[in-house]
Amino acid sequence: MVYIFILVGPGGVGKSCLTIQFIAQRFVDEYDPTLEDSYRKQTTVDNEECLLDIYDTAGQEDFSAVRDQYMRTGNKCDLQDFREVSTADGEELARKLNCKFLETSAKERINVSEAFHELVKEVKKA
Ligand code: GTP
Ligand code: MG
Repeated sequence: MVYIFILVGPGGVGKSCLTIQFIAQRFVDEYDPTLEDSYRKQTTVDNEECLLDIYDTAGQEDFSAVRDQYMRTGNKCDLQDFREVSTADGEELARKLNCKFLETSAKERINVSEAFHELVKEVKKA
């Protein structure tokens, strides 16, 4: 089964780093804003072989956008001292939106495969 995912979100939150950590098990330290990239990975979820097509989109509408500075959180749960949203607030929003909530770190590889695998499970349920 082929699953197609499109990653969206503000510039600098870590969409590309999460994807590369998932695909290639490495952390990219430098920030190179994405124009558009795509990746493909074969993985097993619930004993089913899946092919994941991941489209990594540009978060920066304009490279000088200062606004995005505020939003460079979401991923990066390793940066506890810079936390801007509490776990409780995240969980509450997820409950309201009726979606899963995971705190991830591309740097420390926390909840990286879990995040993508949870998406596959959501699609399977749908
Ligand atoms: P656009 O392509 O512009 O939309 O940005 P993006 O969301 O793809 O961000 P990207 O993955 O390029 O990461 C931006 C910066 O944040 C880079 O310098 C990364 O090294 C850093 N970063 C990404 N994930 C993490 C993380 O989990 N922890 C820490 N400490 N830094 C991270
Ligand atoms: Mg990117």
